[in-house]
Amino acid sequence: MEKLKKIFVCSECGYETPKWMGKCPECGEWNTFIEDVRAEEGTSKQKTAGLIIGEPEAETVTSISDVCVDDEIRYVTGIDELDRVLGGGIVKGSVTLLGGDPGIGKSTMLLQICGKLSEKMKILYVSGEESKSQLKLRAKRIGVDSKNLLIAPYTDIGQVINAISAEKPDIVMVDSIQTMSFSGIASSSGSVTQVKECTSILTKVAKKANIPVIIVGHVNKDGAIAGPKVMEHIVDTVLHFEGERTMSYRILRSIKNRFGSTNEIGIFEMNENGLHEVENPSVALLSERPTNVSGTCVSCIIEGTRPIFAEVQALVSKTGFGVPRRTSTGFDFNRTALLIAVLEKRAGYYFGSMDTYINVIGGLKLDEPAADLSVAIALISSLTDTVVDSSIVAFGEIGLGGELRSVSNTESRIKEAEKLGFSEVILPMQSLKKLRKDDYKIKLTGVASVGEAFSAIRKKEVKSE
Ligand SMILES: Nc1ncnc2c1ncn2[C@@H]1O[C@H](COP(=O)(O)OP(=O)(O)OP(=O)(O)O)[C@@H](O)[C@H]1O
Ligand SMILES: [Mg+2]
Ligand SMILES: [Zn+2]
Repeated sequence: MEKLKKIFVCSECGYETPKWMGKCPECGEWNTFIEDVRAEEGTSKQKTAGLIIGEPEAETVTSISDVCVDDEIRYVTGIDELDRVLGGGIVKGSVTLLGGDPGIGKSTMLLQICGKLSEKMKILYVSGEESKSQLKLRAKRIGVDSKNLLIAPYTDIGQVINAISAEKPDIVMVDSIQTMSFSGIASSSGSVTQVKECTSILTKVAKKANIPVIIVGHVNKDGAIAGPKVMEHIVDTVLHFEGERTMSYRILRSIKNRFGSTNEIGIFEMNENGLHEVENPSVALLSERPTNVSGTCVSCIIEGTRPIFAEVQALVSKTGFGVPRRTSTGFDFNRTALLIAVLEKRAGYYFGSMDTYINVIGGLKLDEPAADLSVAIALISSLTDTVVDSSIVAFGEIGLGGELRSVSNTESRIKEAEKLGFSEVILPMQSLKKLRKDDYKIKLTGVASVGEAFSAIRKKEVKSE
């Protein structure tokens, strides 16, 4: 008889130990061990992937110049925001992991990809989460219907492999990896061991049959279910679907990509008939901007190759009692603290007994130093209750001396600001010096320090009154 023994597995790296540990000796993470079971040796029925897909053929050593390959073949999905994030489409034989919080729209995304691709190719959609009728309902809601789209409500990975060899699809979707299990392993579906084994089985099949596979993985904050962390090393591409569930914008980001850049993001909007591409995110992100209110400034960051404009809001108010509160959403907390310190020391704006709140509208994260200037301006604007003209864009990195440092891609930022109808760009003097001013119709104001930037804004206010 098969005897089971208890083991603990690290959800980050898959390290196994017979005893629970607080810190993983392999990856150094804390609190990542999850209980699991394993067949005891001797009584073992533990089998590995080789059993269902056959052992790999013996590989030989070859000189790289003798290896022949076809050109990299990509399936273009026709969803531009997605194709760009993938680096131009889904690569044949690749494995893509789509992760994201519950209810963010992962299944919707898969089904929409199916809708586009099923016009030309055969797709196997394996869903361990939803019944056929549930899938049909969603498909109907988002308008997907095709004879080429095969759905399979399987949870056993063996069944999935059989279906792949029987149907020979051009592409396979698996929703989600946490519901899949391999019968050769004793532990239950969703455990780290199962997730790892099922992923590696799917990866082997993808490489062997040269079929792309897209796998959905749930992320769970408290780690009760094996996070897709352990899978990230196995797969080729990791996409993250982010956003506030209460807001309609969703951001698709690539965390790892063996076939493209990881800087690109795709922006979608969710409504009752599915996800829609947001072609001009800046317009959408700036659409509900308040006018004549202090504490807001428009920033420009580069995401991948695209300049994106976002509104930074700051609220500075007197602290009720005790230590001032500092919060920051969408902008690094420590960076905010640093900017506040610079403003106090170098520009003479004091936040000592003030609570400060920073928020970037639309759920966007500004993690480029170029966003510094707009955050600083929003802070000063709120502190001094001065309205910043809504047709001004500001970008630039702030140094510890309060100086403004030049940033990359200045031209494309300015061009985009012009296109969106802004009237003035405040940018580092160093960046301005490198430009040919005649190329632009928009007013360019170069400044050397934060203080100077705010004076430039203030002067304009006085003039317009
Ligand atoms: N009728 C509807 N109208 C508008 N939005 C809807 C409607 N039905 C579903 N949605 C949106 O779709 C989301 C669920 O999408 P989906 O099932 O693709 O998410 P998921 O990431 O696959 O979730 P799970 O983790 O549960 O599998 C909901 O959170 C909601 O935002
Ligand atoms: Mg789902
Ligand atoms: Zn670990």
